Amino acid sequence: MDIYGEIILDHFKHPRQSGLINGAEAIADDLNPLCGDKVKISLKIADGKIEGFGFEGDGCAISVASTSILGEQLVGMTLADFEKMNNEEVLTKLGVPISPGRIKCALLGYSCTKKAITVYKHSHE
Ligand code: FES
Repeated sequence: MDIYGEIILDHFKHPRQSGLINGAEAIADDLNPLCGDKVKISLKIADGKIEGFGFEGDGCAISVASTSILGEQLVGMTLADFEKMNNEEVLTKLGVPISPGRIKCALLGYSCTKKAITVYKHSHE
């Protein structure tokens, strides 16, 4: 296995920021309709910045690892910068090629985070 594959496996076995945040400002869940796997994201948000990220995931190695990797990148990021992110960027950060059939797995945590932030923004308008 190459180094990037090992990174994915490590994040799957030892997900960073695993577990939901108590008193989170934003929370959402999402599922991959193709397999039924689920993820739940909680975010601590203050002054337009993501200050904490916690998740629970019941899914394949790619979905759990990609959510774990995403969470590491998001803590400290402003909501404005988060909105500039896109699918390509999230997939690139994984460091491994993702086959078309696994793209939904790899973007599950990201789409759930977008959902949580959209709900948060609507409730703070
Ligand atoms: Fe279900 Fe990957 S197989 S999220």
